[in-house]
Amino acid sequence: MSGFVLDTAIEVLQKDGVVAIPTETVYGLAARISSPVGIKKIFTTKQRPFFDPLIVHVSSKKMAETLTTDWSPLVDFLAEHFWPGPLTFVLPKSTAVDAMITSGLETVGIRMPKHSLALSLIDRLNEPLAAPSANRFGKTSPTSAEHVRSEFPNDHLVILDGGPCDVGLESTVLHISHVENSYRLSILRKGAVTKSDLERALSYQKFQVEFVEALSKKESPGHMKHHYMPEIPLAIVIGPQLSEKEILEKAQEKMKDIPDEVEGVRIVKPQQFRQVRELVLPSDAAQSARLLYSELRNLSTQKTTDLLYFRLQPAHSQEAWQAVMDRLTKAASLILN
Ligand code: TXA
Ligand code: MG
Repeated sequence: MSGFVLDTAIEVLQKDGVVAIPTETVYGLAARISSPVGIKKIFTTKQRPFFDPLIVHVSSKKMAETLTTDWSPLVDFLAEHFWPGPLTFVLPKSTAVDAMITSGLETVGIRMPKHSLALSLIDRLNEPLAAPSANRFGKTSPTSAEHVRSEFPNDHLVILDGGPCDVGLESTVLHISHVENSYRLSILRKGAVTKSDLERALSYQKFQVEFVEALSKKESPGHMKHHYMPEIPLAIVIGPQLSEKEILEKAQEKMKDIPDEVEGVRIVKPQQFRQVRELVLPSDAAQSARLLYSELRNLSTQKTTDLLYFRLQPAHSQEAWQAVMDRLTKAASLILN
């Protein structure tokens, strides 16, 4: 990557534009946090509803501290341990963060991405970048510069090409609140950093930590049932080894159950399913995470295929698979058994 492209990205951002940036998780569509015009462009480019808050990306802990009124010892410890990396903290926001970024919430999502290009860009701007994943709303997140280009073919976007994403799934989103040294942690979105990873990191520390599961919809916006949808329907096949012929027949029977649209996301379905393709993932969860989105894209853009399916295996119930299964379940419009 030449310095020239980085210079162009800086210029665009300084002029209130948006730029697609690589991170280790997925590509983001970024604007400077102090540019309301740029932030608005993120929402209009993505066709994203304003109720879904953006994550703010930093290149240092010091920068992160300016974004929140509560940089607690536990957050400092976790940042030291997991940053740069796929862990986003949801913390009380400071006045440095515009309400448009947080969808009017009093909290802000903050993370330091593990990608040298993104970090250099933020460093050189000396300002955090707000960035959601660089896909149209509700669709599969991009894990390569090419994916971003195909999501926004007519937008003449400046895209910093940092190669394929190493992790391949969006960051773990962790809500943190506390009273003195007693902390409540809640995982709002599963990602590469698991609950066990957090527990392990905290096990020799003096913090009192409680994990809480359910949070209200208000604390956890943008976590919709259907998300990450491929262009064509995806079926999750549970139980007995159905043949592809049986899968086609069962999917056809259930065709009327597939809505045309869920939570603003359109589901493309044919009159009749004709051709299925299996989504095959490696047996290793991390490798599967890296490949999932590009496989979904590749398979769903093959003209002859109109239905994808994924076979659920017993191993998929392990913790390492939770983030992959979360995305697959949200991407699926059919469960067959
Ligand atoms: O890995 C990632 O997190 C990627 C890369 C680009 O960093 N970003 C990403 O952004 O996935 P996005 O906008 O697609 O997802 C951000 C999600 C929101 O939908 C919301 O669920 C959650 O993070 N979030 C952000 N700010 C929040 C807040 N203040 N409270 C609760 N959830 C928040
Ligand atoms: Mg997204």
